Amino acid sequence: MDYEKKLSTAAQTIKPSGIRKFFDLANQMEGVISLGVGEPDFATPWKIREAAIYSIEKGRTFYTANRGLLELRQEISNYYYRRFGVHYDPENEIIVTVGGSEGIDIAVRALMNPGDEMIILDPGYVAYEPSVILSGGVPVRIHLEEKDEFKLTPEKLKAAITPKTKVMLINFPSNPTGGAMTREDYEKLVPIIKESGIIVISDEIYAELSYEEPFCTLASFPEIRDQIIVINGFSKAYAMTGWRLGYVLANPVFSKAMCKIHQYIIMSAPTGAQYGAIDGLRHCDKEVEEMRASYLSRRNFLVKTFNDMGLHTFNPMGAFYVFPCIRSTGLTSEEFCEELLNDQKVACVPGTAFGDAGEGFIRVSYAYSLEELKIATEKIKLFLDNLKNRSH
Ligand SMILES: Cc1ncc(COP(=O)(O)O)c(C=O)c1O
Repeated sequence: MDYEKKLSTAAQTIKPSGIRKFFDLANQMEGVISLGVGEPDFATPWKIREAAIYSIEKGRTFYTANRGLLELRQEISNYYYRRFGVHYDPENEIIVTVGGSEGIDIAVRALMNPGDEMIILDPGYVAYEPSVILSGGVPVRIHLEEKDEFKLTPEKLKAAITPKTKVMLINFPSNPTGGAMTREDYEKLVPIIKESGIIVISDEIYAELSYEEPFCTLASFPEIRDQIIVINGFSKAYAMTGWRLGYVLANPVFSKAMCKIHQYIIMSAPTGAQYGAIDGLRHCDKEVEEMRASYLSRRNFLVKTFNDMGLHTFNPMGAFYVFPCIRSTGLTSEEFCEELLNDQKVACVPGTAFGDAGEGFIRVSYAYSLEELKIATEKIKLFLDNLKNRSH
């Protein structure tokens, strides 16, 4: 039997992640230095681990409420108010999810009908387009450009909105560019969002990793607060990727609809992780700040090193990625990454893994120690020297 033909059209249409494809290649080689993964190199702060271990010792091993422990929702509510000035009601506006990933999925599913258009940003995080396709929706890409510091401009937003636009999914600070939006940048978008009535899913997973300007959430503009669904989680800021914990903030109508989906596909997020996260939000500001400071010094090192070696690199405002432009080498993003891997055993991700607008760029993660970054960049320099010699 041809089992391929048994698959749904959506399952056939979505492609495996371009990041994974590349790392399968790298995994087949020995001694590869990877700058590819978007995962903190820090262990989860001890206070969080201790609280989770204690909860297990106490036998708190049952499902929680669908929306998550009320105590955790209260802490999330306090956190968003304390850090970003927006209030969410723990009872009706917060759902604790299995990572930001589940949050994106339930938000898209709660809003999209087949044929609806959803605006996504290109380059953008690899999971967005598949989530639109799985909902039967039509992805509409806005190409972000380095000349705009990879920000979303009002002109581009206006041009992308059609009568079929239902949702826009944004992510600032951005994976993969590190671009971020300031309050002033958002002020120009707010009237367009309000007037068009589109719903914005705002993936704020890198909010704590903002370097130049304080993080601003679109939800902090009262006139559109209820048009925004905020996605956030513990993976990046609290170095908790493996715990699978995130949350979604939204008006009570959206939250109730998403909770129905969450209830059936998940039931409740992992209980031990929820207990750990309560202590994270209560007691780990210092640890979060220390990790942020460390990422910042790595960013500064990488931006300078890449520019010094002749690869023009935008100074990212947040997250833990740099996005060097490799056009000067005459190679495509994919060729560059493949040849770098074969020549020096250093793995980066082609910009095209994040959409067509990523052509001409590579994504380099700095969720690695400075020592590793130094070794890897020396090898990249050698690769560039070899390339130059080759073309002479
Ligand atoms: C932009 C963005 N959103 C969401 C996620 C998913 O994170 P989580 O571990 O919370 O599911 C990631 C992970 O890399 C990401 O980069």
